[in-house]
Amino acid sequence: MDIFLAKHRGFCYGVKRAIDLAIKSLENAEPVYTLGPIIHNPQMVRHLKDKGIEVADTVEEIAKGTIIIRSHGVGPDIFAKAKEKQLTIVDATCPHVKKAQQAASRLTQNGYQVVVVGERNHPEVQSILEWTHNKALVIENSAEARNIAFFPRLGVVAQTTFSAGEFNTIIDILETKCDELNVERTICMATDQRQQAAIQLAGEIDVMVVVGGRNSANTSRLAEICESAGCKAYHVETAEELRPEWFHGVKKAGITAGASTPDWIIEEVNNQMTQFQNDSQFEQLEQQLQESDTITLEPGSIIKGKI
Ligand code: F3S
Repeated sequence: MDIFLAKHRGFCYGVKRAIDLAIKSLENAEPVYTLGPIIHNPQMVRHLKDKGIEVADTVEEIAKGTIIIRSHGVGPDIFAKAKEKQLTIVDATCPHVKKAQQAASRLTQNGYQVVVVGERNHPEVQSILEWTHNKALVIENSAEARNIAFFPRLGVVAQTTFSAGEFNTIIDILETKCDELNVERTICMATDQRQQAAIQLAGEIDVMVVVGGRNSANTSRLAEICESAGCKAYHVETAEELRPEWFHGVKKAGITAGASTPDWIIEEVNNQMTQFQNDSQFEQLEQQLQESDTITLEPGSIIKGKI
C-alpha cells in the first residue's frame, strides 16, 4: 500500500496564530484562560492544559488574569465584560473571521437585512450574529435560502469554512429574493485549499483517512467531500482509532486533515498506517512460505522478524 498526503492539510494560519498567541501569553505570569476550547481538537486542548492554559466557559468564571478570544471570535458584549473585569484580553480571532464580523456589522448599519450563510450553531456564526445585534438571518443550505421572505436589500456574508460551491448556489437563489444583493465573499482560502486538495487526492486513491477532532466542522466536511468524490473515508481523531482491516486489499491510501489538526497527530497516523503496510507485507511473505519452500524477494527488500 502506498500512502499519499494531501497537498494542503492540517493547521491553517488562523489556528496556528491562536495557539502561538495562547502560548506566548503564558509569559505574563498570570492565570491564562481560553474562552471555550481554543480549537476543535481535544488533543491540542489537553496539550495546552498541561502547559497551564485552562478553559473557561464564561467570562464570569474568570476572576483575574488573561482571557484568550479564540479564532472563532466573540461578540462585542464579551469584550465589554472582559474589560469591565479588568482582564488582559488577547484577541486571537482569525483575521478572516474578523473580516466577516466587520462586514456583517457594516451591512446592518447600512440598512441591509444581513444573511449569514453557515451552520447556525457554530461558534463563528454565533459571533458574526452578535456583531449584528442578532438581527441577521442564518441560512444553512439552498432549501432554507428558497424559503426566506423577499427583502428590498440583502447583505450576505459566509461562515469562513463554508463550501465555495454551495455558497455560489445559495447566492443565485438569494438574487431572486431581493431588489439589491450585496455579497461579501468571506470564505477563507485555507478551507477551500484543503477541500480541493482532498478532492484531487480522493480521485487517485482507494481509501482516505481524515484526521481531526470529531467536533471540528471543517474536518467532518472533508470526510463528506471525499465520500462524495467516490472514495471511502474514515474520520479519526488519533492514530489509535485506525483499524488494519480498513486497508486490506488497498493499494493506495491517502491522508488529509482539518485546519485544527496538529502536525504531530498527522505524523502519528502516517506512522501507524506505514506500520500496517509493513505488517501486511510480512503476512504476505508468511503466506507465501506456507504455500511454498521458497519466496522471491524484490531487490532491496528488508525482512525483519522471525520466519
Ligand atoms: Fe481562519 Fe481560515 Fe483558519 S478563517 S481560522 S485561516 S480556516
